[in-house]
Amino acid sequence: MDWSPAGVPGQYGRTALVTGGSGGLGLEVARALAERGAHVVLACRSTARGRAAAARIGGSTEVVRLDLASLDSVRRAADGIRRRHRRLDLLVNNAGVMFPSRPRTEDGFEPHFGVNHLGHFALTGLLLDLMHGVPGSRVVTVASLAHRAGRGAMDGPRARDGAGHRSLSAYGRSKLANLMFARELQRRLAGSGAETLSVAAHPGLSATALWQGEAPAWLRPVSGVALRLLAQPPERAMLPVLRAATDPHLPGGAYLGPGERFESRGAPAPASSSRASRDASARFCLWELSEALTGVRYGLAPARTAAGGSPTTAGR
Ligand SMILES: NC(=O)c1ccc[n+]([C@@H]2O[C@H](COP(=O)([O-])OP(=O)(O)OC[C@H]3O[C@@H](n4cnc5c(N)ncnc54)[C@H](OP(=O)(O)O)[C@@H]3O)[C@@H](O)[C@H]2O)c1
Repeated sequence: MDWSPAGVPGQYGRTALVTGGSGGLGLEVARALAERGAHVVLACRSTARGRAAAARIGGSTEVVRLDLASLDSVRRAADGIRRRHRRLDLLVNNAGVMFPSRPRTEDGFEPHFGVNHLGHFALTGLLLDLMHGVPGSRVVTVASLAHRAGRGAMDGPRARDGAGHRSLSAYGRSKLANLMFARELQRRLAGSGAETLSVAAHPGLSATALWQGEAPAWLRPVSGVALRLLAQPPERAMLPVLRAATDPHLPGGAYLGPGERFESRGAPAPASSSRASRDASARFCLWELSEALTGVRYGLAPARTAAGGSPTTAGR
């Protein structure tokens, strides 16, 4: 179905929370939602950077401190949001790190898995009931083409293995976890009869601050060329996320990305995904592991389809 940013419905009366709204793609998503009338909560590691972003965005915004590398910070952020808001229409799990300098999060997790996945898993679980019964409510989780590099099942020891904090496979595993989480959440929401949808999107490539991490030496020339040839500016790269957040025709479980040149650019369209991301039993295991590691329990039944597999999605 044709989609263009000009056709995004008005977001007046809706409250959207964007993690990592202080820069890069998150700032552009937050700006687009605020321009269309949403009240946008910028959940940022640095409130100073968050306030600077809010000033650039204009519209109706507020800034909440959220450090996804600390489950304590995630709980405090969720408590603060719950005190101020009775409902949430949209949660955009966007913040992310790639090749960070610290080998572990505050809670001792490998930082890609801890920040990109576990922090968002906990935040979503702590806020989800604010979305119950809210028409059109939606959780959008930002994955990546790099989810294909996420080989090897996640388990407890690997979740705490800080040795991989500068490896592409660790980043890839966290992005694979983002995609598996989005799909498993959709399956559980649908199974519990909730009208909240869970969808995912990836931006292709964009030369944001994400690429300033300490990449492995072999990857630097490769990523330099890829960025020169394929990157889109953040205001274009974020369009799959914006569509995932606002397209009223999107089914739960959809996964969007740029539609052209190996999903690196072009208008948002259904994206392809690895076989691992579609493995229903691996998604179930990841969910159980994530609940155990974060201590956040969703109370959503692990619904199964009649065939025991996952439901049809718009993603591939
Ligand atoms: N850019 C790409 O080519 C690309 C490709 C595929 C997927 N993605 C995904 O797109 C998303 C956005 O990335 P981006 O390119 O916009 O990167 P970015 O410009 O580096 O922005 C990342 C955002 O995440 C925030 N963040 C980092 N660590 C955090 C933490 N511990 N707690 C809370 N917030 C934290 C950053 O906050 P600070 O301001 O404090 O640093 C920043 O606002 C990520 O999920 C990334 O994996 C990006």
